[in-house]
Amino acid sequence: MKAARQRIAALTAYDYPMARLLDEAGIPIILVGDSLGMVVLGYPDTTHVTLAEMEHHLRAVARTRPRALVVGDLPYHTYQSPEQAVSSAQRLVAAGAEAVKAEGGRDILPQIRAIQSVGIPVIGHLGMLPQHVLEEGGKYRVKGKDDAGRAKLLDDAAALAEADLPAVVLELVTPPVAREITAQFPFATIGIGSGPDCDGQILVTHDLLGAFPWFTPKFVQPKLTLGEDVRRVVREWAANL
Ligand code: KIV
Repeated sequence: MKAARQRIAALTAYDYPMARLLDEAGIPIILVGDSLGMVVLGYPDTTHVTLAEMEHHLRAVARTRPRALVVGDLPYHTYQSPEQAVSSAQRLVAAGAEAVKAEGGRDILPQIRAIQSVGIPVIGHLGMLPQHVLEEGGKYRVKGKDDAGRAKLLDDAAALAEADLPAVVLELVTPPVAREITAQFPFATIGIGSGPDCDGQILVTHDLLGAFPWFTPKFVQPKLTLGEDVRRVVREWAANL
């Protein structure tokens, strides 16, 4: 799609109906993201999500047998060594993932190569890494703002390009650096809060639909008010029994 200059749309799904709706709408990539920890399971961040929870939600999504590529997130602390990364990735594939996503760059290259060596495609994730939010003092910070930040991102992107990754999510990367990475490397960049110049965009579907009204990232303009609508419809129904 990058070569054909087609914009790549990707969205998250964690269950059968949403995956089916996204697939019927022609979305080519469905991510069973560990964002499910917050928008479905009620955790404060993604570090609490387990492999068993990812498998459970992947199975529900895979039951739709979508045309879309199903990508599963490797959760926090499940790819700390190459051996652990392979075993975790194989569990996600057994649950229905066709590719796995891992957060990090040069630091996780051995894990990425190990997963690839057993025939599982890996999608990268650079920029703000939600699984490291606690190490960053609980703040989701934009990356690439200064020379050191830009150089680190470019070095990590080069490492992922060396590993021949097909696509890399760029989360909260400054738009000029996201543009530079997109122009310089062969992998498709899928941006989230990283400006308009990535090869594609991804959102947490709950954010797009206003289905998690208690928190909306600054860079998202929800297209529906699902949370409010649910409250209103339920109140009206209950009042008219
Ligand atoms: O977990 C997730 O949903 C993600 C996207 C925000 C890219 O990683």
